[in-house]
Formats: sequence, structure tokens, C-alpha cells
Amino acid sequence: MTSSSCLEAGHSTTPNDPSEATFSGTILLQVNGKAREVRAALDTPLLHVLRNDLELNGPKFGCGLGECAACTIILDGWPARSCVIPINGCMGRNILTLEGLARAINRIRSNALSSRKKLRNAAIASTG
Ligand code: FES
Repeated sequence: MTSSSCLEAGHSTTPNDPSEATFSGTILLQVNGKAREVRAALDTPLLHVLRNDLELNGPKFGCGLGECAACTIILDGWPARSCVIPINGCMGRNILTLEGLARAINRIRSNALSSRKKLRNAAIASTG
């Protein structure tokens, strides 16, 4: 099974050969504004953790080489390729996926609509 099909099927990212595994433990990540705990090897690509462990499927698996940008996330405010970033490089950093971005946009849109209604009601009240 290729790593791409592993991701799509939602299988674990644990290596088949235990000798390939590096330190594994509980890691605290800040994803879309929330603290999330995951158990994984420290060298697990962030993309695998996002998709398999946190069920965030906004970032996609494409090339797995950091070249196609299908897996792009925002890391501390900057675009980053999650397929080539090990999770030990993400501890204490802010990770934003498409899901988090969509929530932020919806919140902004909702606030804008609310403000527009308040302005309209204020305008109506001032003329009445
Ligand atoms: S999957 Fe292509 S850059 Fe990450």
C-alpha cells in the first residue's frame, strides 16, 4: 500500500518495520486555535497527523515531496508544505488548515453581516 492510499484509507501512519520507528509519544499541537494531543513518532509528517489522527482533510496528499503544494497549511502565519514537516517541528507553533481558515472567514462574514444590520437599524432609527 502506498502512503497516498494509506492516507486516503485513513490507516495509521505507524511504520511497518518497527526498527524504522523513532521516539513515539504524546505531542501537543495547536491546530486551528485548539490544543490537540496526538500519539505519534516524532518524525511523522504533519500531513499524516492532520489527516489520519485529527481527521482534517483540507490538506491533501499529492507528491509527498514538498513540490505540488496540495498539502499546504499555514504555520505561524506562513504557508508551509505539511508533507515534509515532521511533527516535532510543529510543537508550540500555530497550525492553520483550510478548515480553520473557513471557520475564520465565516466568523468574519457573520460579524460583517451583524455590523451591517446594526448600521441599517441605526440609520432607520435616526430618520424615524
Ligand atoms: S504533497 Fe505535494 S507538496 Fe506536499
